[in-house]
This record gives sequence, structure tokens and C-alpha cells, in this order.
Amino acid sequence: MLFLLLACATPTPPEIPQASAPSEATPVEALNAMDPRTPVPLQPMMAWHQKQNMQAHLVAIEGITAALAEEDWEGVQASASAIQSSPQMAMQCEHMGAGAEGFTALALDFHQRADGIAIAAAEQDQKRVLQATAHTLKACTSCHAQYRQDLVDAQTWSLRTGSSTAH
Ligand code: HEC
Repeated sequence: MLFLLLACATPTPPEIPQASAPSEATPVEALNAMDPRTPVPLQPMMAWHQKQNMQAHLVAIEGITAALAEEDWEGVQASASAIQSSPQMAMQCEHMGAGAEGFTALALDFHQRADGIAIAAAEQDQKRVLQATAHTLKACTSCHAQYRQDLVDAQTWSLRTGSSTAH
């Protein structure tokens, strides 16, 4: 009896209005649905690292063009060194692209293209530096046209990459 009373006294929890009905897409789902690019599964920390790398890539291009305008060849080389290929860069790109076929190959090709910038700067050849920079920028834009970040949790990342290393 006491139980019943208590049960009756328990107020029915008010129905919490759903942010979206199951059939309705969340804003992120709606965005993903209109974005035809291949998702690159990334855990939040990886996604943040990637964004920071990307911002640094753009800063490097800014530095290259500014130095080039002044014919500051060492300045061009210094800025280009931030995007040139290296074993560490390759490892990072492999990790980032582990869940998206073709991503790592594009990333490695991008860094190889960037190597050409410092080579042309060493030759003090303004036209060739510009050509190498344009060739590099083409790698930026074609990757952006093909891939987008896809935020996932550690478990999903392991499943989609076939890797057990959580990051
Ligand atoms: C191999 C692929 C790839 C290459 C090469 C690449 N990016 Fe990106 N970049 C990405 C992806 C993926 C994103 C996230 C896009 C998204 O989810 O909408 C991104 C995002 C960015 C962003 C936005 C960062 C932010 O804070 O949100 C900038 C800026 C950027 N890239 C600059 C560059 C520049 C400059 C280059 C070349 C010098 C470059 N990227 C080369 C894949 C690439």
C-alpha cells in the first residue's frame, strides 16, 4: 500500500521536448548530407591537430609569397620548410588518413610538391618559385574538394581504421 502511494505520488516526468524527432536530421547530419566529400574519420584531438596543421600550412604559404615579393630567398626557404616532406610528416599523414582511402597518398604528394618551392628558391628563380607554389596550392585545393573531417569516438575510429591504437 505504501508502495502504491509512493508510486502514485511520484510525479510523471514532464516529457522532454526532443531537439529533433528521430526522422529529423541534427544540424551536423544536415551538413553532412549536403557535403558530398569523402569523410575522414578523426577523433577530436586528431581533428584539432589537423586543423592546427592546416592553419600552419596557410601561414607557410603566406610567408612564402611575402618573402618572394621581396626576393628574400632565405625567407622563402624558411617558410617552405614548414610544409616540406619529412619522415615525421609522413607518419602524421598516415595516421590522419588511416580511415579514408587515398587521403594519405594525396597528403604525401602535397608535401613532395612543396619540396620544389625551396629548390626553386635556392636557384633564386622567382618564376619557378611561383610555379612550384601554384603546383603545391593545387594539391591543397584538390584535397579540400575531395575530403572532409568526420568526428568520431575512439571505438568508431578503431573500427573504421582497423587500428587498435586509440588517440
Ligand atoms: C591531403 C589533404 C589535404 C591537403 C593536401 C591540404 N588540406 Fe587543408 N584541410 C584538409 C581537410 C580534410 C580539412 C577539413 C575540411 C572540412 O572538414 O571541411 C582541411 C582544412 C583546412 C583549413 C581550415 C582549418 C580550420 O581551422 O578549420 C585550412 C585553412 C586549410 N585546410 C589550409 C590548407 C592549405 C593552405 C593547404 C596547402 C598548402 C592544405 N590545407 C592542404 C585536407 C587537406
